[in-house]
Amino acid sequence: MLIRIHLGKSRVRESRMLGSVGAKPNGLATRPSPALVDGVITPETSVLDYGCGRGSDVKRLRADGRAANGWDPQHAPDTALIPAQIVNLGYVVNVIERAAERRDALVRAWSLAERVLIVTARLKFDMLGQELKPFEDGYLTNRGTFQKFYDQVELRDWIAASLDVQPVAAAPGMFYIFRQAADRESFVASRHRRSGGSWSCYASERLFKEHRGLFEAVLPFFCQRGRLPSITECGAAAALYEGVPRLNFILESIERLVGAEDYGRIVSERRQDLLVYLALSRFSKRPPLQRLPDDLHLDIRSFFPSYHAACSAADDLLFAVGSRDSLEKGCFCQRNLAPL
Ligand SMILES: C[S@@+](CC[C@H](N)C(=O)[O-])C[C@H]1O[C@@H](n2cnc3c(N)ncnc32)[C@H](O)[C@@H]1O
Repeated sequence: MLIRIHLGKSRVRESRMLGSVGAKPNGLATRPSPALVDGVITPETSVLDYGCGRGSDVKRLRADGRAANGWDPQHAPDTALIPAQIVNLGYVVNVIERAAERRDALVRAWSLAERVLIVTARLKFDMLGQELKPFEDGYLTNRGTFQKFYDQVELRDWIAASLDVQPVAAAPGMFYIFRQAADRESFVASRHRRSGGSWSCYASERLFKEHRGLFEAVLPFFCQRGRLPSITECGAAAALYEGVPRLNFILESIERLVGAEDYGRIVSERRQDLLVYLALSRFSKRPPLQRLPDDLHLDIRSFFPSYHAACSAADDLLFAVGSRDSLEKGCFCQRNLAPL
């Protein structure tokens, strides 16, 4: 089964996490990596990029005068695997097909990290816009490469269970794992200290102001559907995802524009609308996911972990209502329509 969904077509994957600046492919804006902003990588720390690919992050770090090495089974197999204070495992676990090998890579990278292991992985949101074929516990892309997409909690729990250490979320799809509990605590505490007039607050404010017009342009769609649009659903979406490739930030900005209360209400009402549609579809033989149009795929993915979960929630709603008559009455009332 091929899944074709559109939102991500123009989505620029968050910049590589190690480079001093994350230059986007089109050479537009650049932004510092979280590991540098957070002070996890300092000029004094040694870095090993485990699964470095062609080594672009290593080159950037070296160009910044930092002690960096990269190892990769395909591109840099001869680099000596010497422990470093910081080890980066960036977008590696996504590409490993076998779950046991994936875990081995994580454990090995951790064994080389003297102070912090940084794990970055692609999240489920990255699936949008790709043609994917289910394979093992992940997908094959249309280029035939394997990708496992995580959600944030799944990634966190997998790291914690594999390493027996509680990771700290640094950004969507990115975790820090500290060797020393004291380092972890001082990092977490420093984060709270920084909230208020910090560099990151200032940067967020600037980003919000810079792209406010684009946030406002997708707002009508958001109000109508309770989710972000794909690039085919809203003219401004492509520019927005280019300019602000952090979905959480986009959602926070929209929340800021509409207010927390209305934001929550919009999402919950649109989710409810979808549930009503799915509940009613049960009476006319609910269609399989493949027969639903792309926009409904996106609705389902936005509000539920899977079509199956959405249908279960719709069935729960149906059984809670108790009868077809009262369900239909409820639906018509909700939409301010008179029953036929
Ligand atoms: C998507 S690339 C990421 C490269 C780089 N870290 C980056 O962020 O640009 C994934 C890399 O993981 C490497 N890789 C695959 N299996 C691996 C394993 N078992 N251990 C370490 N690296 C692995 C691949 O050779 C590939 O270069």
